[in-house]
Amino acid sequence: MDHFFEGNQPFLSRIPLRGKDKIVFIDVTHEPKTTYVDRLRDELKAEFGEVSGVIGIGGGSTLDMAKAVALMMTNPGSSADYQGWDLVKLPGVYKVGIPTLSGTGAEVSRTTVLTGPTRKLGMNSDYTPFDQIVLDPELIQNAPVNQRFYTAMDCYIHCIESLEGTFLNAFSRSYGEKALELCQEIYLKKDHWDADSDEKLMMASYAGGMSIAYSQVGVAHAVSYGLSYLLGTKHGVGNCIVFDKLEEFYPAGVKEFKQMVDKHQVDIPQHITKGLSDADFETMIDVSMGLAPLWENALGKDWQTLMTRDRLRKLYEQL
Ligand SMILES: [Fe+2]
Repeated sequence: MDHFFEGNQPFLSRIPLRGKDKIVFIDVTHEPKTTYVDRLRDELKAEFGEVSGVIGIGGGSTLDMAKAVALMMTNPGSSADYQGWDLVKLPGVYKVGIPTLSGTGAEVSRTTVLTGPTRKLGMNSDYTPFDQIVLDPELIQNAPVNQRFYTAMDCYIHCIESLEGTFLNAFSRSYGEKALELCQEIYLKKDHWDADSDEKLMMASYAGGMSIAYSQVGVAHAVSYGLSYLLGTKHGVGNCIVFDKLEEFYPAGVKEFKQMVDKHQVDIPQHITKGLSDADFETMIDVSMGLAPLWENALGKDWQTLMTRDRLRKLYEQL
């Protein structure tokens, strides 16, 4: 469970603990690391031997931690060994996801984004998705406004990157268009936030996640992973920082995004790469360039001729 709920008795009392059930608070100050996953797995194994299931309650980081720990209860070695595509060989223990923040799509995705010793990359596999999810909009109603906006924009960006990508197909389009419509309704058409907004955002997150499940994300994600690897920038706000500068790739989407930012008077951090060294830029470029499927979805098979290290460096310098 997200450490945000530590000490929140009304919330904790709703969890019906029985037998050997145990609540583990997850520190999500930083995005999940492979070392943290391995340590939790080791602690649970030392205490219980085997566990019958893992339930993640929280935002995207907590959900990803729950998926990763559930997988690592059965797969040998370190979670860093499984960062990539289809490297996980065994189903994990039963896993359930209960989001308390909506937008990342972690409740439906086949990945669990982790920062490892050499890269920031998920355990993408057919065994990664939750066996069960519980979507209760009441659980997201107390999310802090800025955090809710950044995370919701993660969903909006999933839609744009999926719908504008070369991997688009009927499945992804169907979910992507629905999620986009919901985001536009909540963030542009409505005048105030209410319970209906929470319900719609929760479904937008789900549909946005489904949309990218069989397509891919694109430029904003590829660039923002570099930021979060080096600077620890959180996924939602990192995507906003990058997407804000991507007019040349997604003109209509960026224009609409800026309207949402204005309407909701949210600050998008600026100049976060100012003063970084050449080595820092190289690190971010390495992380970003390693995400070939994202670039290929965004720019096509010839992406390497279109997105050179120089061009990417200029993009990072604008952030
Ligand atoms: Fe995302």
